[in-house]
Amino acid sequence: MPGEEMRAIICSQWCNYNDLVLTKVSRPSLANSQARVRIRFAGVSFATTLVVAGKYQRKPSLPFSPGTEIAGEVMEVADGVTRVRPGDIVFGAIDWGGYSEEITVAATNLHVLPDGLEIKKSVALAISYPTAYGGLVWRANLKKSQTLLVLGAAGGVGLAAIEIGCVLGAQVIGVASTKEKRKVVEAHGGKAIDGVDLKKKIMTLTNERGVDVIFDPVGGDNARQVLSCLAPDGRLVSIGYASGIIPKVGYNILLVKNIAVMGFNYGEYVGWGPVDNRNAYTARVDAMQKKLLDWWQSQAISPTIHACFQLDDFRDAMAEVMKRRAVGRVVLEIGR
Ligand SMILES: NC(=O)c1ccc[n+]([C@@H]2O[C@H](COP(=O)([O-])OP(=O)(O)OC[C@H]3O[C@@H](n4cnc5c(N)ncnc54)[C@H](OP(=O)(O)O)[C@@H]3O)[C@@H](O)[C@H]2O)c1
Repeated sequence: MPGEEMRAIICSQWCNYNDLVLTKVSRPSLANSQARVRIRFAGVSFATTLVVAGKYQRKPSLPFSPGTEIAGEVMEVADGVTRVRPGDIVFGAIDWGGYSEEITVAATNLHVLPDGLEIKKSVALAISYPTAYGGLVWRANLKKSQTLLVLGAAGGVGLAAIEIGCVLGAQVIGVASTKEKRKVVEAHGGKAIDGVDLKKKIMTLTNERGVDVIFDPVGGDNARQVLSCLAPDGRLVSIGYASGIIPKVGYNILLVKNIAVMGFNYGEYVGWGPVDNRNAYTARVDAMQKKLLDWWQSQAISPTIHACFQLDDFRDAMAEVMKRRAVGRVVLEIGR
Protein backbone atom coordinates (compact mmCIF):
# COMPACT_ATOMS: atom_id res chain seq x y z
CA MET A 1 0.00 0.00 0.00
CA PRO A 2 1.16 3.63 -0.58
CA GLY A 3 3.58 4.94 2.04
CA GLU A 4 4.91 1.48 2.90
CA GLU A 5 8.24 0.43 1.48
CA MET A 6 8.95 -2.10 -1.26
CA ARG A 7 12.06 -3.57 -2.88
CA ALA A 8 13.06 -2.10 -6.23
CA ILE A 9 16.07 -1.88 -8.50
CA ILE A 10 16.84 1.80 -8.85
CA CYS A 11 18.72 3.77 -11.51
CA SER A 12 19.87 7.08 -9.90
CA GLN A 13 22.25 8.13 -12.68
CA TRP A 14 22.85 6.97 -16.26
CA CYS A 15 25.03 3.92 -15.80
CA ASN A 16 26.07 0.41 -16.74
CA TYR A 17 23.47 -2.16 -15.60
CA ASN A 18 26.04 -3.55 -13.12
CA ASP A 19 25.84 -0.24 -11.21
CA LEU A 20 22.09 -0.42 -10.58
CA VAL A 21 21.15 -0.83 -6.92
CA LEU A 22 18.54 -3.03 -5.24
CA THR A 23 17.06 -0.94 -2.43
CA LYS A 24 13.84 0.00 -0.60
CA VAL A 25 11.58 2.80 -1.85
CA SER A 26 8.05 4.04 -1.12
CA ARG A 27 5.22 2.24 -2.83
CA PRO A 28 3.68 4.36 -5.59
CA SER A 29 0.28 6.05 -5.18
CA LEU A 30 -2.62 5.34 -7.50
CA ALA A 31 -3.70 8.01 -10.03
CA ASN A 32 -6.81 8.30 -12.22
CA SER A 33 -7.30 5.53 -14.81
CA GLN A 34 -4.63 3.39 -13.15
CA ALA A 35 -4.39 -0.06 -11.58
CA ARG A 36 -1.97 -1.19 -8.89
CA VAL A 37 -0.19 -4.42 -9.81
CA ARG A 38 1.85 -6.73 -7.57
CA ILE A 39 4.57 -7.71 -10.00
CA ARG A 40 5.49 -11.40 -10.19
CA PHE A 41 7.72 -11.47 -13.26
CA ALA A 42 9.49 -8.84 -15.37
CA GLY A 43 11.41 -9.15 -18.64
CA VAL A 44 15.14 -8.47 -18.93
CA SER A 45 16.21 -7.20 -22.32
CA PHE A 46 18.94 -5.54 -24.33
CA ALA A 47 16.76 -2.39 -24.41
CA THR A 48 16.89 -2.15 -20.58
CA THR A 49 20.67 -1.74 -20.73
CA LEU A 50 20.21 1.16 -23.17
CA VAL A 51 17.54 2.79 -20.97
CA VAL A 52 19.70 2.75 -17.81
CA ALA A 53 22.71 4.03 -19.82
CA GLY A 54 20.60 6.99 -21.01
CA LYS A 55 21.05 5.83 -24.63
CA TYR A 56 17.43 4.90 -25.37
CA GLN A 57 15.22 7.20 -27.44
CA ARG A 58 13.12 7.75 -24.30
CA LYS A 59 14.61 8.86 -20.96
CA PRO A 60 12.67 8.57 -17.67
CA SER A 61 13.47 11.23 -15.05
CA LEU A 62 16.02 10.09 -12.48
CA PRO A 63 15.75 8.23 -10.17
CA PHE A 64 13.57 5.45 -11.61
CA SER A 65 13.16 1.69 -11.59
CA PRO A 66 13.77 0.16 -15.04
CA GLY A 67 11.74 -2.72 -16.53
CA THR A 68 9.02 -2.32 -19.13
CA GLU A 69 7.52 -5.83 -19.46
CA ILE A 70 5.58 -7.22 -16.51
CA ALA A 71 3.17 -9.90 -15.39
CA GLY A 72 1.44 -9.87 -12.01
CA GLU A 73 -1.78 -9.56 -10.04
CA VAL A 74 -4.07 -6.53 -9.85
CA MET A 75 -4.41 -5.31 -6.25
CA GLU A 76 -6.66 -2.25 -6.65
CA VAL A 77 -8.01 0.01 -9.38
CA ALA A 78 -8.85 3.73 -9.53
CA ASP A 79 -12.52 4.79 -9.50
CA GLY A 80 -14.19 4.07 -12.81
CA VAL A 81 -11.63 1.54 -14.06
CA THR A 82 -13.47 -1.54 -15.35
CA ARG A 83 -10.94 -2.98 -17.79
CA VAL A 84 -9.22 -4.98 -15.02
CA ARG A 85 -10.33 -5.95 -11.49
CA PRO A 86 -8.54 -6.80 -8.25
CA GLY A 87 -7.41 -10.43 -8.41
CA ASP A 88 -6.96 -10.47 -12.20
CA ILE A 89 -3.69 -11.92 -13.46
CA VAL A 90 -2.40 -9.45 -16.04
CA PHE A 91 0.58 -8.73 -18.28
CA GLY A 92 1.60 -5.62 -20.17
CA ALA A 93 4.11 -3.11 -21.45
CA ILE A 94 4.65 -0.29 -18.97
CA ASP A 95 6.56 2.99 -19.12
CA TRP A 96 9.16 1.86 -16.53
CA GLY A 97 9.14 0.57 -12.92
CA GLY A 98 8.95 -3.15 -13.70
CA TYR A 99 11.88 -4.13 -11.44
CA SER A 100 9.82 -3.29 -8.33
CA GLU A 101 7.46 -5.26 -6.16
CA GLU A 102 4.55 -3.00 -7.10
CA ILE A 103 3.64 -0.61 -9.89
CA THR A 104 0.77 1.72 -10.61
CA VAL A 105 0.09 1.79 -14.32
CA ALA A 106 -2.51 3.01 -16.86
CA ALA A 107 -5.11 0.24 -16.94
CA THR A 108 -5.17 0.44 -20.73
CA ASN A 109 -1.63 -1.02 -20.79
CA LEU A 110 -2.77 -4.20 -19.00
CA HIS A 111 -4.22 -7.37 -20.52
CA VAL A 112 -5.94 -10.11 -18.56
CA LEU A 113 -4.25 -13.50 -18.87
CA PRO A 114 -6.79 -16.30 -19.45
CA ASP A 115 -6.78 -19.32 -17.11
CA GLY A 116 -4.42 -22.10 -18.13
CA LEU A 117 -1.67 -19.89 -19.60
CA GLU A 118 1.59 -19.59 -17.66
CA ILE A 119 2.08 -16.19 -16.06
CA LYS A 120 5.89 -16.28 -16.38
CA LYS A 121 5.66 -16.86 -20.14
CA SER A 122 3.13 -14.03 -20.55
CA VAL A 123 6.02 -11.57 -20.10
CA ALA A 124 6.88 -12.38 -23.73
CA LEU A 125 3.45 -11.10 -24.79
CA ALA A 126 4.11 -7.68 -23.26
CA ILE A 127 6.48 -6.47 -25.99
CA SER A 128 8.29 -9.25 -27.92
CA TYR A 129 5.25 -10.83 -29.62
CA PRO A 130 3.45 -7.52 -30.28
CA THR A 131 6.65 -6.17 -31.86
CA ALA A 132 6.91 -9.23 -34.09
CA TYR A 133 3.19 -9.05 -34.96
CA GLY A 134 3.16 -5.30 -35.58
CA GLY A 135 6.36 -5.41 -37.65
CA LEU A 136 5.19 -8.31 -39.81
CA VAL A 137 1.45 -7.61 -40.12
CA TRP A 138 0.88 -3.88 -39.58
CA ARG A 139 4.08 -2.67 -41.20
CA ALA A 140 5.41 -5.27 -43.71
CA ASN A 141 2.00 -6.73 -44.64
CA LEU A 142 3.44 -10.26 -44.74
CA LYS A 143 1.13 -12.61 -46.64
CA LYS A 144 0.56 -16.36 -46.76
CA SER A 145 3.11 -18.15 -48.99
CA GLN A 146 5.52 -15.20 -48.98
CA THR A 147 9.08 -15.75 -47.77
CA LEU A 148 10.27 -14.27 -44.49
CA LEU A 149 13.87 -13.92 -43.30
CA VAL A 150 14.32 -13.30 -39.55
CA LEU A 151 17.70 -12.09 -38.24
CA GLY A 152 18.58 -12.73 -34.56
CA ALA A 153 16.04 -15.54 -34.89
CA ALA A 154 16.61 -17.15 -31.48
CA GLY A 155 16.38 -13.85 -29.57
CA GLY A 156 13.26 -12.70 -27.74
CA VAL A 157 11.77 -10.75 -30.62
CA GLY A 158 13.27 -12.97 -33.34
CA LEU A 159 11.76 -16.21 -32.03
CA ALA A 160 8.36 -14.52 -31.80
CA ALA A 161 8.75 -13.42 -35.46
CA ILE A 162 9.62 -17.00 -36.49
CA GLU A 163 6.43 -18.31 -34.89
CA ILE A 164 4.15 -15.55 -36.15
CA GLY A 165 5.57 -15.89 -39.67
CA CYS A 166 4.73 -19.63 -39.54
CA VAL A 167 1.21 -19.00 -38.21
CA LEU A 168 0.62 -16.55 -41.06
CA GLY A 169 1.58 -19.27 -43.54
CA ALA A 170 4.88 -17.76 -44.71
CA GLN A 171 7.98 -19.79 -45.53
CA VAL A 172 10.31 -18.77 -42.73
CA ILE A 173 14.11 -18.70 -42.63
CA GLY A 174 15.91 -17.73 -39.43
CA VAL A 175 19.54 -16.70 -38.93
CA ALA A 176 21.17 -17.71 -35.64
CA SER A 177 24.80 -17.91 -34.56
CA THR A 178 25.05 -21.24 -32.71
CA LYS A 179 23.95 -24.82 -33.28
CA GLU A 180 21.85 -24.74 -30.10
CA LYS A 181 20.06 -21.57 -31.22
CA ARG A 182 19.45 -22.99 -34.71
CA LYS A 183 17.94 -26.13 -33.18
CA VAL A 184 15.43 -23.99 -31.29
CA VAL A 185 14.60 -21.95 -34.40
CA GLU A 186 13.83 -25.20 -36.25
CA ALA A 187 11.75 -26.48 -33.33
CA HIS A 188 9.65 -23.30 -33.63
CA GLY A 189 9.03 -23.83 -37.35
CA GLY A 190 11.79 -21.92 -39.18
CA LYS A 191 14.50 -23.18 -41.53
CA ALA A 192 17.65 -22.21 -39.61
CA ILE A 193 20.93 -21.02 -41.13
CA ASP A 194 24.08 -19.40 -39.76
CA GLY A 195 25.32 -15.98 -40.88
CA VAL A 196 28.29 -17.21 -42.94
CA ASP A 197 27.89 -16.57 -46.70
CA LEU A 198 24.44 -15.32 -45.85
CA LYS A 199 23.50 -14.05 -49.30
CA LYS A 200 24.50 -17.30 -51.00
CA LYS A 201 22.52 -19.37 -48.50
CA ILE A 202 19.38 -17.23 -48.78
CA MET A 203 19.44 -17.16 -52.58
CA THR A 204 19.94 -20.94 -52.74
CA LEU A 205 17.08 -21.55 -50.31
CA THR A 206 14.75 -19.32 -52.36
CA ASN A 207 15.75 -20.66 -55.80
CA GLU A 208 17.57 -17.34 -56.51
CA ARG A 209 14.35 -15.32 -56.08
CA GLY A 210 15.15 -13.74 -52.71
CA VAL A 211 12.80 -13.11 -49.80
CA ASP A 212 9.67 -10.94 -49.56
CA VAL A 213 10.19 -9.66 -46.01
CA ILE A 214 13.21 -9.28 -43.74
CA PHE A 215 12.62 -8.79 -39.99
CA ASP A 216 15.78 -7.24 -38.53
CA PRO A 217 16.29 -6.75 -34.77
CA VAL A 218 20.09 -6.90 -35.15
CA GLY A 219 21.35 -4.28 -37.64
CA GLY A 220 25.10 -4.50 -38.17
CA ASP A 221 27.49 -4.33 -41.06
CA ASN A 222 25.79 -6.80 -43.39
CA ALA A 223 22.75 -4.59 -44.17
CA ARG A 224 23.67 -4.19 -47.83
CA GLN A 225 24.25 -7.93 -48.21
CA VAL A 226 20.87 -8.67 -46.65
CA LEU A 227 19.07 -5.98 -48.66
CA SER A 228 20.39 -7.49 -51.86
CA CYS A 229 18.50 -10.68 -50.90
CA LEU A 230 15.10 -8.93 -51.13
CA ALA A 231 12.88 -9.98 -54.04
CA PRO A 232 11.17 -7.23 -56.09
CA ASP A 233 8.58 -5.43 -53.90
CA GLY A 234 10.42 -6.78 -50.84
CA ARG A 235 10.34 -4.98 -47.46
CA LEU A 236 12.96 -4.88 -44.72
CA VAL A 237 11.54 -3.92 -41.31
CA SER A 238 14.16 -2.42 -39.02
CA ILE A 239 13.32 -3.43 -35.44
CA GLY A 240 16.50 -2.81 -33.46
CA TYR A 241 20.29 -2.85 -33.33
CA ALA A 242 21.35 -5.67 -31.00
CA SER A 243 24.73 -5.70 -32.80
CA GLY A 244 25.33 -2.14 -31.62
CA ILE A 245 25.63 -0.92 -35.22
CA ILE A 246 22.95 1.12 -37.00
CA PRO A 247 23.21 0.28 -40.72
CA LYS A 248 23.48 3.04 -43.32
CA VAL A 249 21.74 2.36 -46.61
CA GLY A 250 22.17 4.17 -49.93
CA TYR A 251 18.82 5.11 -51.52
CA ASN A 252 19.99 3.79 -54.89
CA ILE A 253 19.57 0.11 -53.93
CA LEU A 254 15.92 0.82 -53.03
CA LEU A 255 15.32 2.29 -56.48
CA VAL A 256 17.26 -0.29 -58.48
CA LYS A 257 15.64 -3.28 -56.75
CA ASN A 258 12.11 -1.88 -56.16
CA ILE A 259 12.36 -2.54 -52.45
CA ALA A 260 11.59 -0.66 -49.24
CA VAL A 261 13.21 -0.24 -45.84
CA MET A 262 10.77 0.61 -43.06
CA GLY A 263 10.94 0.94 -39.29
CA PHE A 264 8.60 -0.34 -36.62
CA ASN A 265 8.45 0.92 -33.03
CA TYR A 266 5.90 -0.85 -30.81
CA GLY A 267 6.45 1.82 -28.17
CA GLU A 268 4.27 4.18 -30.22
CA TYR A 269 1.25 1.95 -29.46
CA VAL A 270 1.74 1.81 -25.68
CA GLY A 271 2.38 5.47 -24.91
CA TRP A 272 6.11 5.82 -25.50
CA GLY A 273 5.94 8.03 -28.59
CA PRO A 274 6.76 11.76 -28.63
CA VAL A 275 3.00 12.21 -28.03
CA ASP A 276 1.28 9.74 -25.67
CA ASN A 277 -1.16 7.99 -28.03
CA ARG A 278 -1.83 4.86 -25.95
CA ASN A 279 -5.57 5.52 -25.64
CA ALA A 280 -5.94 6.04 -29.39
CA TYR A 281 -4.46 2.58 -30.03
CA THR A 282 -6.22 0.60 -27.27
CA ALA A 283 -8.74 -1.13 -29.59
CA ARG A 284 -6.04 -2.04 -32.11
CA VAL A 285 -3.67 -3.40 -29.46
CA ASP A 286 -6.50 -5.31 -27.72
CA ALA A 287 -7.47 -6.97 -31.02
CA MET A 288 -3.86 -8.02 -31.56
CA GLN A 289 -3.47 -9.34 -28.01
CA LYS A 290 -6.69 -11.36 -28.40
CA LYS A 291 -5.24 -12.95 -31.52
CA LEU A 292 -1.92 -13.70 -29.80
CA LEU A 293 -3.70 -15.25 -26.78
CA ASP A 294 -5.94 -17.36 -29.08
CA TRP A 295 -2.82 -18.58 -30.90
CA TRP A 296 -1.14 -19.38 -27.60
CA GLN A 297 -4.19 -21.25 -26.29
CA SER A 298 -4.34 -23.31 -29.48
CA GLN A 299 -0.54 -23.90 -29.24
CA ALA A 300 0.09 -22.19 -32.56
CA ILE A 301 2.64 -20.08 -30.71
CA SER A 302 4.67 -21.07 -27.69
CA PRO A 303 6.39 -18.23 -25.78
CA THR A 304 9.84 -19.36 -24.66
CA ILE A 305 11.56 -18.37 -21.43
CA HIS A 306 15.30 -19.02 -21.52
CA ALA A 307 15.93 -18.50 -17.81
CA CYS A 308 14.36 -17.04 -14.67
CA PHE A 309 16.46 -15.20 -12.05
CA GLN A 310 15.54 -13.85 -8.61
CA LEU A 311 15.44 -10.05 -8.21
CA ASP A 312 18.69 -10.10 -6.17
CA ASP A 313 20.42 -11.73 -9.16
CA PHE A 314 19.39 -9.10 -11.70
CA ARG A 315 23.03 -8.53 -12.80
CA ASP A 316 23.37 -12.22 -13.74
CA ALA A 317 20.07 -12.00 -15.64
CA MET A 318 21.26 -9.02 -17.65
CA ALA A 319 24.66 -10.63 -18.29
CA GLU A 320 22.90 -13.66 -19.75
CA VAL A 321 21.25 -11.39 -22.34
CA MET A 322 24.37 -9.30 -23.00
CA LYS A 323 26.56 -12.37 -23.46
CA ARG A 324 24.26 -13.38 -26.30
CA ARG A 325 23.30 -16.64 -24.60
CA ALA A 326 19.54 -16.12 -24.33
CA VAL A 327 17.22 -18.25 -26.42
CA GLY A 328 13.82 -16.56 -26.07
CA ARG A 329 13.22 -14.29 -23.07
CA VAL A 330 15.05 -13.89 -19.77
CA VAL A 331 12.85 -12.93 -16.79
CA LEU A 332 13.21 -11.84 -13.18
CA GLU A 333 10.97 -13.39 -10.54
CA ILE A 334 9.96 -10.54 -8.25
CA GLY A 335 7.12 -11.86 -6.10
CA ARG A 336 4.85 -14.83 -5.69
N1 LIG B 1 11.21 -1.75 -32.48
C1 LIG B 1 10.62 -2.18 -31.38
O1 LIG B 1 9.46 -1.85 -31.07
C2 LIG B 1 11.37 -3.12 -30.48
C3 LIG B 1 10.71 -3.86 -29.48
C4 LIG B 1 11.46 -4.76 -28.72
C5 LIG B 1 12.83 -4.89 -28.93
N2 LIG B 1 13.43 -4.11 -29.87
C6 LIG B 1 14.88 -4.21 -30.15
O2 LIG B 1 15.11 -5.43 -30.81
C7 LIG B 1 16.44 -5.86 -30.54
C8 LIG B 1 16.43 -7.32 -30.13
O3 LIG B 1 15.72 -7.47 -28.93
P1 LIG B 1 15.60 -8.90 -28.25
O4 LIG B 1 14.82 -8.71 -27.01
O5 LIG B 1 15.14 -9.89 -29.26
O6 LIG B 1 17.14 -9.18 -27.90
P2 LIG B 1 17.87 -10.57 -27.66
O7 LIG B 1 16.91 -11.56 -27.11
O8 LIG B 1 19.11 -10.26 -26.92
O9 LIG B 1 18.22 -11.05 -29.14
C9 LIG B 1 19.08 -10.31 -29.98
C10 LIG B 1 19.75 -11.26 -30.97
O10 LIG B 1 20.64 -10.45 -31.74
C11 LIG B 1 21.76 -11.24 -32.15
N3 LIG B 1 23.00 -10.49 -32.07
C12 LIG B 1 23.84 -10.25 -33.07
N4 LIG B 1 24.88 -9.52 -32.69
C13 LIG B 1 24.74 -9.32 -31.38
C14 LIG B 1 25.53 -8.65 -30.42
N5 LIG B 1 26.67 -8.04 -30.74
N6 LIG B 1 25.07 -8.63 -29.15
C15 LIG B 1 23.91 -9.22 -28.82
N7 LIG B 1 23.11 -9.87 -29.71
C16 LIG B 1 23.53 -9.92 -30.98
C17 LIG B 1 21.79 -12.48 -31.24
O11 LIG B 1 21.57 -13.59 -32.08
P3 LIG B 1 22.78 -14.46 -32.65
O12 LIG B 1 23.68 -14.80 -31.50
O13 LIG B 1 22.07 -15.64 -33.20
O14 LIG B 1 23.43 -13.61 -33.69
C18 LIG B 1 20.60 -12.33 -30.31
O15 LIG B 1 19.86 -13.54 -30.19
C19 LIG B 1 16.99 -4.91 -29.48
O16 LIG B 1 17.80 -3.95 -30.12
C20 LIG B 1 15.75 -4.25 -28.91
O17 LIG B 1 16.03 -2.96 -28.40
C21 LIG B 1 12.73 -3.23 -30.65
